Order: sequence, then C-alpha cells, then structure tokens
Amino acid sequence: MYRFMVIAGTRPEFIKLAPVIKAILEFKDIELIFVHSEQHYDIELSDVFLKELNLPSPHEFLNVGSGTHGEQTSRLLIECERVMRSYAPDLIFVEGDTNTVLGAGLAAIKLNLPLAHVEAGLRSYDRMMPEEINRKVVGLCAAIHFAPTKRAALNLIYEGIPPKKIHVTGNTVVDACLFFSKTAKQKSTILSDLGIQKDKKLVVVTAHRPENVDNERNLREITEGIVELGNDGHQIVFSVHPRTKKMLEKMRFKYASVDSFFLSEPLGYLDFLRLLLEADLVITDSGGIQEEALTLKCPCLTIRRNTERPETVEVGANILIGANKNLLVKYARKILLDQNFSSKMRPSFNPFGDGRAGERIVKISRDHCSEGIQIDSPTFLERPPMIFKLLKVSESLEGLTIAALKKKFPEIEVTLVYDLEGKPLFPQNDLTLRKDWSIRIIESY
Ligand code: UD1
Ligand code: UDP
Repeated sequence: MYRFMVIAGTRPEFIKLAPVIKAILEFKDIELIFVHSEQHYDIELSDVFLKELNLPSPHEFLNVGSGTHGEQTSRLLIECERVMRSYAPDLIFVEGDTNTVLGAGLAAIKLNLPLAHVEAGLRSYDRMMPEEINRKVVGLCAAIHFAPTKRAALNLIYEGIPPKKIHVTGNTVVDACLFFSKTAKQKSTILSDLGIQKDKKLVVVTAHRPENVDNERNLREITEGIVELGNDGHQIVFSVHPRTKKMLEKMRFKYASVDSFFLSEPLGYLDFLRLLLEADLVITDSGGIQEEALTLKCPCLTIRRNTERPETVEVGANILIGANKNLLVKYARKILLDQNFSSKMRPSFNPFGDGRAGERIVKISRDHCSEGIQIDSPTFLERPPMIFKLLKVSESLEGLTIAALKKKFPEIEVTLVYDLEGKPLFPQNDLTLRKDWSIRIIESY
C-alpha cells in the first residue's frame, strides 16, 4: 500500500490537481491524503471548486490564509511540516508555483520526503515575478519533475536536474478543461443568466497579477482598453479576483457607458469554461487561462510582457501585449473583426498534450514508488567528480534510441542532445539519434 499526499490551496491548483486525484483514486493500493492549505479560502475561490471538480473532502485544512509573502510562506512551511510528519507519505504532490508549493517544497526536502512537482520546468526568466522564484526553488526540492512539455523539461536540464527524474507528460489542465467542458455545456446556465447574445462578440477578461492589479496605472490601461471594446458594441465579462476588487474599488472603476459589461465575482469552473467555449477573445494575465484558451480554441491576449508558457505564443494562439491600452484595443479589434487573423489563433496542435497527463503522472509515480524513490541523484553524488562531455554521434550509434544507448553504456548519462542545427532536444527514451548530432553526457573521470 502506498500513501500519496496531495497539497493544494488555490483555485488553479484544485483544477490542475483534480485529474491527478482522480487517477490516484483509481488505484486500490494507493491511499490518498488530501491537504487544503487554505491559501484561498473564499467560497468562490475554494469550496466551489472542491464541489464542481468532485474532489474528496480534505483530510487536513492548514488555515494559512492571506498575508505578506513572509507571513504566508512561513505559516505554510510550519503547517506542511506538521502534516508531512504526521502522515509520513510515500510521495507528496504539489502543482505549479504558488506560495503553497514553495512552503510544501521546503518542508518536504527538509524532512527528506520525496516530492513530485506537477507542471515542473516552466520559466518566465523574470525574477521580479514571485512565482518564478517559487518554481525554481521547488525544482530544487523535488524528487520527480512532471514537465508538461519538452521545452519545460529542457529548462530543468539547464538547471542541472538529471533527465531520469524528468517526465514529459502534458499538462493536467488539458485533462481538466476537456473533461469539465462537457459538464459545463450540460449544466452551466451562465449564458442565459447574463443574457449573452449570439449575434454580438463576447470578450472574457481576468486579471490578478500584482504587477497589473496592485499598480493603479497598469490596471487603468487594462480597464480603459476593455471599456473601449465595450463601447465598440462587444459584450464584456470581467471576472474579478479579490486582489483586483480592492484596486477597482479604490479607482472607482466605471463602465456605465457600455451596454453589455458584466463585472462578476470569481466564477465557478463550469461557468467560466462555458464562457470560454463561447468567447471570441480572452484577455488575461492568468497562467492557466493561456493554456485553456489554446485548448478550447479561443484567441488569447496576455496582458503581460513575458510568459512561462511560450508554447502558446509559438503556435500562434496567444499574443503578449503587456498592460498597454493601445495594444490591447489594436489586437482585440483585429481578432474580433478580422476572421482570417483570428482563425490563425486557433491552431489544431496542442503543445500541452492529449488530456491524459493525470493518469500518466500517477502511473509513473507508482512505478517510482515500487522501485524506491531516490531524493538525491546517485549519478551526481555517488561517483564524484563528474564531468560533462560533448560527443558526436558516430555511424555506429546512428539509429539508436536514447533507451538503447543507456542500455549499451550504463555508465554514462545523456543530459542533452543537439541536432544538426544545434537545436537542443530533450533526451527522451524514444528519441532516435542521427549521425553527426551531438550528445552531452555526464560521466566520471
Ligand atoms: C495566488 C498565487 C498566484 C496564483 C493565484 C491564483 C502566490 C504568490 N500567488 O495569487 O501565483 O496565480 O493565487 O488565483 O502564491 N484573497 C481573498 N480571498 C481569498 C484569497 C485571497 O480575499 O480566498 C485576497 C486577500 O486580500 C489576499 C489577496 O487576495 O491578500 C491575494 O491572495 P494571495 O493568495 O496572496 O495571492 P493571489 O493574488 O490569490
Ligand atoms: N477560473 C475560474 N473562474 C474564474 C477565473 C478563472 O474557474 O472566474 C479558472 C480558469 O479556468 C483556470 C484557473 O481558474 O483554470 C486559473 O486560475 P488563476 O487565473 O487564478 O491562476 P493562474 O493560472 O494564473 O495561476
């Protein structure tokens, strides 16, 4: 019998860990311990999701609440340490990059307990973003890294994480949003509740990043932009996070000039998905919504200057506009009025996977547990000193997969592969080597 602890505490963590919890519950030999940190505690950010996502009742509530980063993280560290000691789980799951993840990561590594990081390896390379620090720190704490894409896996490789600890699984947000979209279509009444009209365009808006909503100037740029779109005759639904509500009240935000402007409390998942399915455009600074918009084929404008989800931009589904009214209005009009332009923002390829990430993650985790999870990497620690070498793929190695190469030379570890153009490739087991590619290996003297 294995004991898996899942720690979540904010809206996106409930959503993205729901597929993992569902997959855990399918194994008779895994006991689930579900811990709610209560970083989010309002009904609209917490209970609604537990209910709609059919999550089991949490075994533990940590009551960490809001506060400064120091206050919140220290309470998380103390409380996570307490529950981890008391349950001694075989594996602990966290998802993403919130302070809940940071607290749990630090507690786990200090107790030498194995941590599985879901949605590992995302990097915006923006150190002013609190989440970037959290992601990097939890990367140091984790024993298993579930990277949604090969690009995310490469970010981890660059930071020295051994490839055998990294699994490319797809993002569980795809599992969640595809699965719950069906329920949303059947159950949500949000379109009729708001009186959404089919013959008008629909724009959905969310904003909650501190750089946008704690900064009055930036929030003004965003709100003036969306009011202008409303004045064009489009329907606007703005789902307001509590952090954002405070600043909107301070600014005395007004939108009376617009016919169909809906300023809403945070919406439940089914209502939010129903709106996304109907929307012609989403304007957001959310991480999860960039991924969901791509998955549900809704063009996305991201009101940030960078993203840790560059795959969305690469496939053409997302445009980064910063908190800039002029760019917001310019690109929104293009998307809403130029069908040729907007159809290119609905690519058929989804870099975040096929919607089966949750079951993959749990199966790999269970296999790891049966083999015994190593928190430290023996290749780095047991045989020092280690060196990196770059080797050319010779004719005799051509056509071998990475798995076959590992079998042939068990003493080396391939950390990176470069193709003929020097493009880095994640050394996944099924990657086939071509002549004159380079492989970066690690071996002892
Ligand atoms: C947090 C995460 C962010 C994530 C977001 C998801 C960190 C550092 N940030 O941001 O990465 O994208 O959750 O939504 O972990 N508040 C309430 N009710 C609640 C929760 C919060 O009113 O239930 C208010 C409080 O005034 C609080 C503020 O919102 O101070 C911010 O909450 P906090 O959890 O610190 O950060 P988020 O902005 O929600
Ligand atoms: N979401 C929701 N209701 C809303 C706004 C967002 O259910 O009113 C969902 C959305 O579908 C996505 C997740 O919340 O799955 C994103 O959460 P958030 O933007 O708070 O956090 P981030 O993804 O930026 O960490």
